[in-house]
Amino acid sequence: MTESADFEQTFLMLKPDAVQRGMVGKILSRIEDKGLKIVAMKMLQVTPEQAAKQYECHYGKSFYPSLVDFICSGPCVAMIVEGRDAIAISRKMMGATAPEQSVPGTIRGDYSLDVKHNLIHGSDSAASFAHESRVYFTEAEILSYGLELERWIYYS
Ligand code: RTP
Ligand code: MG
Repeated sequence: MTESADFEQTFLMLKPDAVQRGMVGKILSRIEDKGLKIVAMKMLQVTPEQAAKQYECHYGKSFYPSLVDFICSGPCVAMIVEGRDAIAISRKMMGATAPEQSVPGTIRGDYSLDVKHNLIHGSDSAASFAHESRVYFTEAEILSYGLELERWIYYS
């Protein structure tokens, strides 16, 4: 990772609707085009146990059972991406949770009409990243490498 205090990693997951709608490439392109670096990635069938851990902060809420069902309903693509302010930047790129509030130009704003079928999950804090990334990745699966282009993406 480039040496800088504001560089961080975040956990993203392309949800089953993204896979079923053939939008994995399109969404990954947005992430790469932004300059975020993918440092871990896998396609997987999420188990109910993994979903419960990932979304434990929502346990007890009205939408929790349907959220867990949905995330387990088909293959997902889980990844860790790295970059300056990666958590806030990714959340901005994803767009708001409520479909009527996700603005055009964001992933949800451009491609989603529904609060559940909203294509992508992203950590909302450093604590969430630490928790969620551990559900899906071991330390050894998170790679550390440089990109030649980084000096054209970051100026310091
Ligand atoms: P995510 O965790 O998936 O990245 O989404 P988020 O931060 O934008 O939204 P969050 O509040 O964490 O909710 C997690 C997921 O639960 C579903 N949800 N349904 N009122 C509802 O029916 C409702 N609220 C939330 C959404 O699929 C949301 O992505
Ligand atoms: Mg969330």
